[in-house]
Amino acid sequence: APLAVPDLSKCHLASDGETKINCCPPYSTANIIDFQPPSSREPMRVRKPAHLLTPFEVERFEAAITAMKNLKPDDPWSYMQQATIHCTFCNGAFDQAGTKTLLQIHGSWFFLPWHRYYLYFWERILGKLINDDTFAIPYWNWDTPQGMKMPKIYTNEKSTLHDGTRDKNHLSAVLDYKYAYNDPNPVGPEVDEVIMANMCQIDRMFKESKHHPALFMGKPLRAGQPVPTNASGSCENLHNMMHQWVGPPVSPYYNMGNFYTAARDTIFFGHHGNVDRMWDLYNKFRGGKPEFKDHDWLESEFVFYDENRQVVKVKVKDCLTPEQLRFSYQTQKLPWTDIGR
Ligand code: C2O
Repeated sequence: APLAVPDLSKCHLASDGETKINCCPPYSTANIIDFQPPSSREPMRVRKPAHLLTPFEVERFEAAITAMKNLKPDDPWSYMQQATIHCTFCNGAFDQAGTKTLLQIHGSWFFLPWHRYYLYFWERILGKLINDDTFAIPYWNWDTPQGMKMPKIYTNEKSTLHDGTRDKNHLSAVLDYKYAYNDPNPVGPEVDEVIMANMCQIDRMFKESKHHPALFMGKPLRAGQPVPTNASGSCENLHNMMHQWVGPPVSPYYNMGNFYTAARDTIFFGHHGNVDRMWDLYNKFRGGKPEFKDHDWLESEFVFYDENRQVVKVKVKDCLTPEQLRFSYQTQKLPWTDIGR
């Protein structure tokens, strides 16, 4: 059966291995309404690469984040509450409806749709805070050579987009998709090899999974089941590396390095913008058809706090393309297509 919305009144402590954490949302008794997809008369929000934003666009983004940080801590729109959503659904603050199985949206075919909605609401809330219904969040374009490092908008220490917990050794290093904790940074001629290897990996990821969506998206998880082992897709697996690369190299693996803190770092949303864009590119690469026709995927439900201060129930089938949600990714060259064959 499809996943159903958990009972909001039954939130419990979440866990990070040893530590118990309170990640319960501040709206345990709310009335849940059905999500209405945005109307086609709404302006399209066009997400751009972080490294190509104009100074004005950076300012707008910073203004929105600042407004979010200035909200009261228990406001469901506040920066920390928004970050905590990741802990809620990734560290097991709820059981799946009617079961004793923890609800976990990583490690399966729910990874991409859940994060698409997460960013969707975050973007719309930010837009509301600066009164701009065209506002779109930037994405970290890590599949193109110019984007294979931390985008500057996040590393400026004076900016509200900065986060002091990141690996200092990576602030201007080249991103290596094969990175494992404490690997040295590529230098000299290695840099070009690493960039080439990264692009080959992306290209391969698309081609290998073209006819096998579960390889890219993740394998099925059905109501009542715990997350199966090795069920995450190649897109999620690749994305895990960037979390490790941005976060601290040694324990405690704060902010980006850890599920429950990851979304406290604004770069999380830039990173997931590109993860989500990968799904969009994959969907188009396969001719725009849904990755799964399985009822248990399409009808699965999540819950979010929306830009109208309502608790809404969303379904996977309403987020299969960005267009359904009135946003898009600005068209960029894909330097990795057809390399490495
Ligand atoms: Cu929910 Cu990048 O993880």
